[in-house]
Amino acid sequence: MHKNLTRKIIEEHLVAGSLTPGEEIQIKIDQTLTQDATGTMAYLQWEALDLPRVKTELSVSYVDHNTLQMGFKNPDDHRYLRTVAARYGIVFSPPGTGICHQLHLENFAVPGKTLIGSDSHTPTAGGVGSLAMGAGGLSVALAMAGEPYSLYMPRVVKVYLEGKLTGHAGAKDIILHILQRLSVKGGTGRVLEYTGPGVADLSVPERATITNMGAELGATTSIFPADETARRFLRSMQREGDFSELGPDPEASYDQELFVDLSSIEPMAARPHMPDLGTTVRELEGRKVDQVAIGSCTNSSYADLKITAKILAGRKVSEDTELLISPGSKQVLKMLAAEGLLEPLLDSGARILECACGPCIGMGGSPVSGGVSARTFNRNFEGRSGTQDAGVYLVSPVTAAHTALEGAFTSPEKWGEPQPRPSLPDNVPSIRDQFIFPEDADSREIYRGPNIVPLPQFEPLPQNLDLPVLIKCGDNISTDHILPGGAQVTALRSNIPAISEYIFSRLDEDFVPRAMQAGQGLILGGENYGQGSSREHAALAPRYLGVRVVLVKSFARIHRANLINFGILPLILTNPQDYDRLEQDQAIRVNTTDLVPGGECFLEAGAGDKIKAVNDLTPAELEIIKYGGLLNLVRERKKG
Ligand code: F3S
Repeated sequence: MHKNLTRKIIEEHLVAGSLTPGEEIQIKIDQTLTQDATGTMAYLQWEALDLPRVKTELSVSYVDHNTLQMGFKNPDDHRYLRTVAARYGIVFSPPGTGICHQLHLENFAVPGKTLIGSDSHTPTAGGVGSLAMGAGGLSVALAMAGEPYSLYMPRVVKVYLEGKLTGHAGAKDIILHILQRLSVKGGTGRVLEYTGPGVADLSVPERATITNMGAELGATTSIFPADETARRFLRSMQREGDFSELGPDPEASYDQELFVDLSSIEPMAARPHMPDLGTTVRELEGRKVDQVAIGSCTNSSYADLKITAKILAGRKVSEDTELLISPGSKQVLKMLAAEGLLEPLLDSGARILECACGPCIGMGGSPVSGGVSARTFNRNFEGRSGTQDAGVYLVSPVTAAHTALEGAFTSPEKWGEPQPRPSLPDNVPSIRDQFIFPEDADSREIYRGPNIVPLPQFEPLPQNLDLPVLIKCGDNISTDHILPGGAQVTALRSNIPAISEYIFSRLDEDFVPRAMQAGQGLILGGENYGQGSSREHAALAPRYLGVRVVLVKSFARIHRANLINFGILPLILTNPQDYDRLEQDQAIRVNTTDLVPGGECFLEAGAGDKIKAVNDLTPAELEIIKYGGLLNLVRERKKG
């Protein structure tokens, strides 16, 4: 059989299962990464496993989300992360060094290696040929303990790129185009593997922009081959030794194909409030824009900011618009400074922010009330910017820079000659000395401030559950809807009782008191429930509030996995129309004794009213739920 690249890497790492699409497999994980917002919990879970050192080839703990240090919570968490890393053999990246995915691509991503990260944009490393997936923090903790990672064998989509980009189009426009074609559900259960002659037209950072936003398609991951371009990138990063040539066999077979003609791509924008609401920038001509933000793990590379600087050089940002720029890493910032490119950015009137997620996670830089913000980020969900009624458009750095100058969207015909797409210089300055590499042995005390609260203990699944419907929500509920981001909330990530107070706070402020009064309950949702960020607190905190079942029309992949990990039973309505028959506060009885993996079960919703649901669980997943969560199960096994 002629193998595609995805299959080759999975085969090489396979621990259990068969490579039939949809079947559960387990693979060995070479590398892990965490960011601080999910990392504190991942390390609390790691500590609960009581092991002396991590067993991966490399584990890195980045601090990029909650870098603001107002009050004790974030600094305490940063100190906890730093000391846990030193103690257990984890590389630590201090706040201000950069955004986890940009840093990982530059410094650690290796072709052919498997990587899981407690952040949904971990597939960024697929730009260099790594099989990189977003996962819950608990999965990351277990991978650090040497446990294999479970997933469903994905279908592999051949994304055949032909032609070359022209005019003002860039990598962001390619992925916005694909999102428009496939939708936010189009990648579910799939890996997008990029191939074809057009691949050679794209640099590694451009490829990484595309694999990064594969997360918005719901894809398991996205991957490019490790070719000459990847070798040149790694050489620039002074780590050519990490290169090995990797690609699909010439006649490789795939489960599905998608053709993209790069020469037909033009500047695109995703309209509020979904990344797949794509349109051409030309169609937005004349729309006033209050704020422009350039950065995030999608578009904060040297090339992204260099082209921005070239466009802004000698010109001023419109008086009615503000421009925020967050470089992806200190390396990017140093290169801009060395090449005299900071000056045009500063002179244009732009604000240069810290090398961190910043406005992407609502950490400063919120737009004005009712405002319009054009961002080079990957998500534009309602409220994520920190301003509930703002509208966020997702665009490329080139579109962002021109929009900032005009204070409005303009047609690309008016932008003049396109700037050439920048390539990396041969040798870029290393920032490896900014990381704290662990010593061989470290017995220093782990610092625990008052914001580090021990993990709650969860009970096993009882035989029958009588559950009120605590909330009935619609389609495309994101983890931002379930648990909002923003400084106030995410500062509580290592304090489950405190962060639980914010569950569904933007949709229904009575949810928490209702759940607490009921003691336990069920969440009813529509299609694609739990899309968006991988934050496992969106499962863990509802579990703390007594949520035992989530009943929906369909789930987003990572959130479903998180629900299982914390002992919440995910059920899918067999007949989606039954959703309309259920209401908030209605009592539902779930008989858990008859549950079999992948089987149907009947829920009783009042006298004689039966609702059919399917659990689509594997035997291993059902066992986790019966134990009340994965940590309970692993602990139990260790005892045995
Ligand atoms: Fe950070 Fe936003 Fe990416 S929060 S990791 S820059 S999606």
